[in-house]
Amino acid sequence: MQEVKNLQPANAEDVEQLRIKYLSKKGVIAQLFADFKNVANEEKRMVGQMLNELKNTTQDMLNDMKDKYANQGSAAKLDLTRTPSAIEFGTRHPLSIVKNEIIDIFSRIGFTVAEGPEIEDDWHVFSALNFPPEHPARDMQDTFFIEKNPDILLRTHTSSVQTRVMTTQKPPIRVLCPGRVYRNEAISYRAHCFFHQVEGLYIDKNVSFADLKQALLYFAKEMFGSETQIRLRPSYFPFTEPSAEMDISCDICGGTGCNFCKHTGWVEILGCGMVDPAVLEACGIDSKVYSGYAFGLGVERIANLKFRCKDLRMFSENDLRFLKQFDSAL
Ligand code: DAH
Repeated sequence: MQEVKNLQPANAEDVEQLRIKYLSKKGVIAQLFADFKNVANEEKRMVGQMLNELKNTTQDMLNDMKDKYANQGSAAKLDLTRTPSAIEFGTRHPLSIVKNEIIDIFSRIGFTVAEGPEIEDDWHVFSALNFPPEHPARDMQDTFFIEKNPDILLRTHTSSVQTRVMTTQKPPIRVLCPGRVYRNEAISYRAHCFFHQVEGLYIDKNVSFADLKQALLYFAKEMFGSETQIRLRPSYFPFTEPSAEMDISCDICGGTGCNFCKHTGWVEILGCGMVDPAVLEACGIDSKVYSGYAFGLGVERIANLKFRCKDLRMFSENDLRFLKQFDSAL
């Protein structure tokens, strides 16, 4: 054994010589097996085991050596002048591109990113956000429930991360909460059972609706160009009072009217409002000292506007021909 170990074969031919010497039919080990008959009966068992072990170990060592030298010949044939095959780079997903752009824009005015779980309890998604018990959003039609009583569900909006941030941090709070949300909707070109949102939340002393409007105007101009105009329409969300929906002047026709904006010149892009004092209180923030604004926007919606993609399903079908188009999009 020692002899085999100490032999340093230089190439595949040396390894073959070693194999012939030790493992061939007339090799050293075969000879030892032939002599086995002369071993005393009481020692046969032990010697037999040793012989088998010797044979197996030698075989393993030779196999290793063989592998090591097997490719040696091909190295000499390596053509270093050949053009290498191109490395395929992946591309960023269009929704990631848009999400990162949104984060980038708001981070320039002091927002940081907060994330939360996709599987949530009722309190973080609904109760703390002032949804009355009979609110239709809790309905089986909208929400994917994982467990009932107490309810565990897939979050239907990233506003649940607001709740998590407000219960764990002290104002001033200025966060963006990007993430995937789920709703029990029939899948079509304009609806999916999961999509992506970015929630924004700003809580401090003396935060006003004017601050909200200014932040959103800044966002719209950065995202869609400095010509972009915004308008706010009164709306309703349980967690904001007053609430509004924001439209931007249609990016496609420039406000003159087209199919995309249904000939109105305006496209809705987000919901927003002043955080309802009841929500602040539920999360342990003194509503007499602090006020805040919140907004929530759909990433797919912004991506549709930016990329003129008409079918929402394309974003989750993993078709490389589609995905590769957005490489240098923003
Ligand atoms: N959570 C709302 C939704 O999913 C979006 C939203 C609207 C978020 C208004 C907000 C807000 O923070 O103020 O439809």
